[in-house]
Amino acid sequence: MKKITAIIGSPIKERSNTGTLVKDFLEMVKSFDNTIQYEVIILGEKNVAMCKGCWSCTQKGSCVIIDDLQELQEKLLTSDLIILGSPVYVQHVSAQFKAFTDRLFIWFHTLRLIGKPALTAITTSRTGIRPTEKYLNMILFLLGTIPIGHLRGIAYRPGEFPQRDQIKRKYKKLARKTALILSGQEKVRPKVLNRYYFWGMKMKAKHGGSQLPFENEYWKKKGWFNKSFCQAAKI
Ligand SMILES: Cc1cc2nc3c(=O)[nH]c(=O)nc-3n(C[C@H](O)[C@H](O)[C@H](O)COP(=O)(O)O)c2cc1C
Repeated sequence: MKKITAIIGSPIKERSNTGTLVKDFLEMVKSFDNTIQYEVIILGEKNVAMCKGCWSCTQKGSCVIIDDLQELQEKLLTSDLIILGSPVYVQHVSAQFKAFTDRLFIWFHTLRLIGKPALTAITTSRTGIRPTEKYLNMILFLLGTIPIGHLRGIAYRPGEFPQRDQIKRKYKKLARKTALILSGQEKVRPKVLNRYYFWGMKMKAKHGGSQLPFENEYWKKKGWFNKSFCQAAKI
């Protein structure tokens, strides 16, 4: 059984437009393969504190703040496909989403979700798609995932999503592709940026010295210093 986890950076719970966009999409994915399981997690329902800037995660590999982050991390690690989504808040991701990504600091240096296919999702009333999507996409690359698509919707107040049906039709093909990737019938192809970030983080881990002890040890244990992105991701 394949599992998808979506993390949505909206403070709005059931009526989050971004949550609706993603749930509609995942229902479509399920219509192509009923065995696929999914979970959509709205950050507004979770307690994820802001990063304290202590750098402890670079020493021990995990965050010193104990809250809902650990549960979310566990779900991401045990998923076969990831969706990261956020509403556009003043031209960027929401503060909730940014707090969540700051807390993943060491995960970016260790590409903790390497090789997993992934998508971004955004809703906005009109503006800010480009900078927000660019950021979400970079986060996917920094986690080592392989982006396979982007979901975008125009929406307004909580639950006010007039284009909903139109958007559902628009993403039918992507939903089919997602289901095929999960069943292994379609291969994911790594992007140039996957190789670029892998190489960049490898250099950091190798030459980061005493500032980055955990990361250096992690790369050594994984045997990644002599491997390419595809070899490390086993794809
Ligand atoms: C604080 C705040 C800031 C926003 N900033 C923008 C913006 O810069 N550009 C825009 O087009 N829409 C903006 N919006 C509209 C949201 O992106 C839109 O309502 C979105 O669908 C909300 O998603 P959600 O229901 O998942 O939270 C903003 C909304 C709020 C509450």
